Amino acid sequence: MACLIAEWGIWVDLRVPSIITDSNYSRRQRYRKEYITNPVQDYPRSSGRDGKMIQRKLVVSGFGTVGRAFVRLVLERNLLSRLSIVAIVDSRGAAIKKNGFSASELLNALSMPRSHVSKLQKWGVPSIDTRGVLEEVDANVLVELTPSNYTDGEPGLSNVRVAMDRGMDIVLANKSPLALEGLELMRRAERKGIRILYRATVMGGTPLIPLISSIKNSIRSIHGILNATTNYILTRMCEDKIPFSEALRRAQEEGIAEADPTLDIDGYDPAAKLAILACTLGYDLRIHDIERESLRSLDLEEVLRSLQESSVPKYVARLEISDSKPRASVRVEYIGPTDPLIAIRGMYNGVHIRTLENEIFLMGMGAGGRVTAEAVLEDVLSLG
Ligand SMILES: NC(=O)c1ccc[n+]([C@@H]2O[C@H](COP(=O)([O-])OP(=O)(O)OC[C@H]3O[C@@H](n4cnc5c(N)ncnc54)[C@H](OP(=O)(O)O)[C@@H]3O)[C@@H](O)[C@H]2O)c1
Repeated sequence: MACLIAEWGIWVDLRVPSIITDSNYSRRQRYRKEYITNPVQDYPRSSGRDGKMIQRKLVVSGFGTVGRAFVRLVLERNLLSRLSIVAIVDSRGAAIKKNGFSASELLNALSMPRSHVSKLQKWGVPSIDTRGVLEEVDANVLVELTPSNYTDGEPGLSNVRVAMDRGMDIVLANKSPLALEGLELMRRAERKGIRILYRATVMGGTPLIPLISSIKNSIRSIHGILNATTNYILTRMCEDKIPFSEALRRAQEEGIAEADPTLDIDGYDPAAKLAILACTLGYDLRIHDIERESLRSLDLEEVLRSLQESSVPKYVARLEISDSKPRASVRVEYIGPTDPLIAIRGMYNGVHIRTLENEIFLMGMGAGGRVTAEAVLEDVLSLG
């Protein structure tokens, strides 16, 4: 079933969630219509390195929104026979069971308040951190879900390095290790024959990373809306005609924006995502190399003037490859009515990918705990 968003004249194919196709737009702009049903062929996945099935023993590092949703999904989907969770770590300690937690033990862990996993009866170990846990257990996958920290990458960066030293595969929702040292980590993983999977880090529920991995030699630019919180704020400014501060306050009240919104509204989050996209394409572009414009100074008068001229402000993350060099920025751009990004409202994300011969448009819900956890789980399962 296809659905027309009448306001914008754009077709959304509901059989292929996350993919937006626009036949009118294609004709007008000489774009080729792109239906993508399985964009993941080239995303690294396998069984064991010798082709045999390996029992996956997981250390779950970070037991907050995503960590808890991940454990819930493993239980809901009856995956404990394939995935053994041997440790769960939060900021104050861990629960460790070397031969893997049972479903009822995981339910007990889920019933504990935040920061209390180390109080889990029988298996709790106070004060140990992820690195200590990795030394302690014989696990083969690190699921890294601690907070993204763009100052020094810690604790995620060190967790990843230690896991790599131990020959473990790594699945990330935490963006900072790759945003700060992506290409270096990927090269090291390649040398060691281990895998780093990270589809949850950018447009988590939408298979952008697998898609661009499969066409990386052809991509010339990727631009779009990679941060749902700021897109929501801009949508409120445009549709409710309220100033930035008011739109931000509403987003905070609705639990969409953090109490400290810096990472979103100063552009660190979309810049981190651009750095991750760049390293996926094989470029050494780090978060702090990316030009960022903050949204804080966006003026309502200017927004209203642009609306009168039929253009809409969007917080656009842009990665351009020219002469084999990447250039990236995050800034407010005023886009016109024929631009497909105009359809990305509220909590949605969308990107426009230009290859040498084609143009592709991809959209999906901005991630939340369960959507992100599902992306993490997909990566874990794809390890084989
Ligand atoms: N939420 C999303 O929709 C989403 C989407 C895409 C990517 N991500 C990324 O996924 C990661 C997790 O996000 P989240 O929303 O689950 O964050 P969160 O709710 O803040 O949870 C973070 C978890 O990490 C734990 N933690 C903090 N410092 C730690 C340390 N030094 N050692 C071990 N554990 C530590 C916290 O412990 P306590 O429980 O003790 O506080 C908490 O369990 C972040 O990097 C985020 O950027 C999130």
